[in-house]
Amino acid sequence: MDRIRIRGGNRLNGTIPISGAKNAALPLMIVSLLTPETLTLSNVPRLADVRLLQRILQNHGIDIMVAGKRPGQNGTAGDVMHLTARDIADTTAPYELVSKMRASFWVLGPLLARCGEARVSLPGGCAIGTRPVDMHLMAMEKLGADIAIDGGYVVARARKGLKGAHIRFDKVSVGATHAALMAAVLADGDTVIENAAAEPEIGDVAECLVKMGARIEGIHGTELRIRGVTSLSGATHSVIPDRIETGTYAMCAGMAGGDVLLKDANAGHLGAVIGVMREAGIDVQVLNEGVRIYRNGAALQPVTVDTAPYPGFPTDCQAQLMALMTMAQGTSTIRETIFENRFMHVQELARLGADIHLHGDAAEVRGVRKLTGAPVMATDLRASVSLVIAGLAAAGETMINRVYHLDRGFETLEDKLSACGADVTRIPG
Ligand code: EPZ
Repeated sequence: MDRIRIRGGNRLNGTIPISGAKNAALPLMIVSLLTPETLTLSNVPRLADVRLLQRILQNHGIDIMVAGKRPGQNGTAGDVMHLTARDIADTTAPYELVSKMRASFWVLGPLLARCGEARVSLPGGCAIGTRPVDMHLMAMEKLGADIAIDGGYVVARARKGLKGAHIRFDKVSVGATHAALMAAVLADGDTVIENAAAEPEIGDVAECLVKMGARIEGIHGTELRIRGVTSLSGATHSVIPDRIETGTYAMCAGMAGGDVLLKDANAGHLGAVIGVMREAGIDVQVLNEGVRIYRNGAALQPVTVDTAPYPGFPTDCQAQLMALMTMAQGTSTIRETIFENRFMHVQELARLGADIHLHGDAAEVRGVRKLTGAPVMATDLRASVSLVIAGLAAAGETMINRVYHLDRGFETLEDKLSACGADVTRIPG
């Protein structure tokens, strides 16, 4: 297994290109199940999760062609991916694949809508929380599907097709909103999704669906109104920039100090993160070409932050913020309200000298003057990258093991950071 070695202490200066959003690219790829025509996605990030979802979709019979950067071409634009689901060859999503990536469970809605049946493995446990799928199933039942659990699989049927419905979620769920939206666009009649998640990735999927002929109102809001259509066509769509990758590199620059342009970042998707960074004493400038992060000697100030659904502070940036606050001048409080077990990074940060105390869903982070490099273990995607952030400021060498977690969500992380002067090296396993 590869490892990443960081020798801390270098400031970051330069430009980091922001890739397409993993959490938009994945559902956009799944959208291709809804049409027999070709869906062309551009700015697709080159990530392990994208490659895994390709395999899962190919298992359903989707033809996928990927055209990346040609030799000699400049720029850092992502892949262009053509997905064609002319016929759905198999409506089963097997355990071996779904258990490796939870988002693949989201094929349930489109398969049901297109084929009237689906057999999708329950995803099983997860490192950051229990993550049930009850709201996905409730939405499918409301849309007229019969649901049974058999041998660890959700077996869903809608012999006469799905019917528009009023769906109200008790809790905000990104995945359940995606599932309900993707199913409702081909249902017969009108659907209202109340208390929908308003994350920009859902807006991106909805805009792509509209290009394909779907009728959706309320995009980017918390109530989606959908009028079902009988078929969808192909379309061409560019994946939005990754706001979590942006927030992560912003915190890298805030931690290490220096002056970094996060090229192509969309500041409009990052209001809560930018607000917290400024509170912490980091300069953030919103420019036409991206977002500039600047810290030159100013001490980091402690913050009090609760994670929340969009537009609140994202849970996917919680671990990174915690790493940043380990070196603030004072005590920060970070409350995780989305996932009940998303504190796996705390004990790893402690190995570098961080002083963090957990009280239920809140972490009290007492800033220290110095972190010291040590071997640490990546536990999930965002936890892993919090160790990178801490390693950038830690004295000496930090060795991050189990780097495959990072490769799921960060494209060429070591290259992007090295280009700005960090001493970050991948050591092949
Ligand atoms: C998405 O996961 C993201 N994944 C996660 O990013 C992100 O952390 C999360 O949304 C919250 O923003 C992708 O987009 C691929 P949820 P999802 O349904 O959809 C509970 C990353 O690091 N819930 O919004 O699975 C659930 O347990 C990943 O990139 C139910 O109770 O998250 C959680 O407490 C990790 N029943 C809350 O809702 C359900 O049926 C929000 O989860 C569904 C969810």
